[in-house]
Amino acid sequence: MPEQERHARQCLHLETLQQRYSDALETHGYDALLIASGAAPMRYADDHGYAFQGFGPFVHWTGLTDVEHSWLLIRPGRQALLQLYTPVDFWHATASLPDEPWARELELTASPERRPPALDGLGRLAVIGDPAALTDLPGTHNPADLLADLEATRILKTGYEIECLDLANARAADGHRAAREAFLAGASEFEISLAYQQATAQREVEAPYHSIIGLNDHAGILHYQYYDTARPQQPRSLLIDAGYRFRGYGSDITRTTAAPGEGMFQALVAGVESLQKRLCDAVVPGMDFVELHRKTHLGLAALLSSAGLVRGLDEETQVAEGITRAFFPHGLGHLLGVQVHDVGGRPVPPPADAPFLRLTRRLEPGMVVTVEPGLYFIPSLLKPVMQGRLGNQLDHGLIDELWGCGGIRIEDNVEVTDNGACNLTRRHLP
Ligand code: GLY
Ligand code: MN
Ligand code: MN
Repeated sequence: MPEQERHARQCLHLETLQQRYSDALETHGYDALLIASGAAPMRYADDHGYAFQGFGPFVHWTGLTDVEHSWLLIRPGRQALLQLYTPVDFWHATASLPDEPWARELELTASPERRPPALDGLGRLAVIGDPAALTDLPGTHNPADLLADLEATRILKTGYEIECLDLANARAADGHRAAREAFLAGASEFEISLAYQQATAQREVEAPYHSIIGLNDHAGILHYQYYDTARPQQPRSLLIDAGYRFRGYGSDITRTTAAPGEGMFQALVAGVESLQKRLCDAVVPGMDFVELHRKTHLGLAALLSSAGLVRGLDEETQVAEGITRAFFPHGLGHLLGVQVHDVGGRPVPPPADAPFLRLTRRLEPGMVVTVEPGLYFIPSLLKPVMQGRLGNQLDHGLIDELWGCGGIRIEDNVEVTDNGACNLTRRHLP
């Protein structure tokens, strides 16, 4: 899409937000809303701070993820006011006012002060953001009922947001291709992370989340957070879960690659991928995501049987006995947006059989969700099952061979459309 068209869509996005926010403010009896971008706290007893990521509602409006001490004032019937913090600072670069069409939809000011713009005469004021940024401010701070409705404005994406998520997928796809090549050439986790950053031209701190790059048994640590600098003596598997952030919107993609010669593990990767594609095809408006999560368990049970990992138990029994949960402990997916686990996904808590599921809604056109089944060899989860009542139904020898491959996850980002779905990931990474 030409840049000009994207700019036009962003202006429409802001009009939509103005309407959605005005409705929410009216519902809850407020005349104005102040949103704090926030600021990174300093580390204890140190003169350095933590990496900063802007507050979701601020990014939803502005796309600006890295401006601290800045403010957005929403006033129904008037242009929103964006005040950027622009101190005179010879230690750091300071933000400059954006010069793009979307910014002309707003009233823009620059301020050397960390304080918000004048708040007199606004009537009933709500203020939202990190409480640490709101000290001494007037108004009602973070009212829960209003916050819930503002989070709901992020569930159905505008055309502009879908476009940003699509571009975030396109760029991340380049990174995933480079990471796979680096793995097949024998690279370490650290070298794979460099290949990913190089191909995406994105620093790790700018990414939507810390990339998960696990070789061999590290692939079985769901949110593995280190990069080993040593190359493995025998590379067996790579699991990389990494995204790209485009104007605030993050992709969240996982691929698993078996090393040449890992026939059994490769067959399992192919099995999970085939299940993942069927689940993506089942993404349609009206689908209950909890049901889709349950279908995933049945699909994994079938795969465990056909691979010979579990014998003599039908699919329903494997699920009811918690065997599939020992291989696949997390949820099938979540909403995606300016936060990687985007808000608004759990109007009701997840059921007892899916405690980590982050999306309990029926799917609607405009949602963007991840579809990320997995199959892992995690000793702390599998060993109790292997030593338990049904332990003999599992093939211990096969599992012993596979501990060293860690696990499998395949994750795509899927837009729910009026008639079905559009897989934003596979457009760029088939
Ligand atoms: N990257 C974390 C997740 O897939 O939810
Ligand atoms: Mn992920
Ligand atoms: Mn995810």
